[in-house]
Amino acid sequence: MEQTLSIIKPDAVKKGVVGKIIDRFESNGLRIAAMKKIWLSKADAKQFYIIHKDRPFYNELVSFMVSGPVVVMVLEGDNAVLKNRDLMGATNPKEAKAGTIRADFADNIDANAVHGSDSLENAKIEIAFFFGKREIH
Ligand code: CMP
Repeated sequence: MEQTLSIIKPDAVKKGVVGKIIDRFESNGLRIAAMKKIWLSKADAKQFYIIHKDRPFYNELVSFMVSGPVVVMVLEGDNAVLKNRDLMGATNPKEAKAGTIRADFADNIDANAVHGSDSLENAKIEIAFFFGKREIH
């Protein structure tokens, strides 16, 4: 059993597709172990994506992530990290397979509806960034 972090980004929250995205997870064997709606501060967004700090898209990414509230979740299940990434589809929605969350709900590579941890190691770091142990059930 693995845990992974999922963020429903400001574009998807604004569109009102939170429930539809959560249904993709629950219908595919990922259980919601923790969930909250928050509005990230600029400092939090910068820290969360610190791994990308030298990439040309970093500032735009941070600005986008603070443009509205997000829903953060801990998803739990067999192969949760990989399963979540398969359900999300490619980072760029133009390359995402039909039926994936990004193909169905994302507008472009910045406003791409969801974030998911890319490895078990990063999942642990990202979960601890948002949730205390007493918030995960
Ligand atoms: P996410 O999975 O949240 O991780 C980093 C984000 O940076 C990514 O989704 C995209 O929304 C955004 N991004 C913008 N441009 C790029 C790019 N060229 N390569 C990867 N990620 C990008």
